[in-house]
Amino acid sequence: MAKIKEHKGTQTHAVSLITLVDPSSPISEQYRTIRTNIQFASSADQQIKTLVITSSGPGEGKSTTSANLAVVFAKSGQRVLLVDADMRKPTVYKTFNLNNASGLSTVLSTTTSVLEASQKTVIDNLSVLTSGPKPQIHPNF
Ligand SMILES: Nc1ncnc2c1ncn2[C@@H]1O[C@H](COP(=O)(O)OP(=O)(O)OP(=O)(O)O)[C@@H](O)[C@H]1O
Ligand SMILES: [Mg+2]
Repeated sequence: MAKIKEHKGTQTHAVSLITLVDPSSPISEQYRTIRTNIQFASSADQQIKTLVITSSGPGEGKSTTSANLAVVFAKSGQRVLLVDADMRKPTVYKTFNLNNASGLSTVLSTTTSVLEASQKTVIDNLSVLTSGPKPQIHPNF
């Protein structure tokens, strides 16, 4: 686990994303290849602005892929908002060592805006909307 120094102040954040700890590795290069392919799929009049990373089953790499893709897009200079929409197994707040007291669930259930609930990360251009507290599920649901 590598320690990345924050830009301002002395606080350090623990992260273990390959694209951060070893950006020149072949695996990081593969994430950049995915980024390039997505960029090529985007045309001038139909720019891809939103990506959904999902899969058919558990443990198939959704969280790892989305976090690393967010990093490589941000590193290419694009402003990125990584949204953790996994209310069952949220992990993004842990990956980026953020507070999960408010997030997507807060935006959906209160008047809090996406901007207010989003948090900056130690990576330039990369903000995160964490999942937020798990919503209460009605016992009869
Ligand atoms: N491309 C990959 N190759 C090999 N292992 C991977 C790859 N991507 C992720 N993993 C590993 O697979 C495991 C599950 O990954 P991850 O947590 O990203 O999946 P997930 O789809 O988000 O899971 P969940 O359904 O539990 O949210 C982790 O141990 C991760 O390190
Ligand atoms: Mg996951």
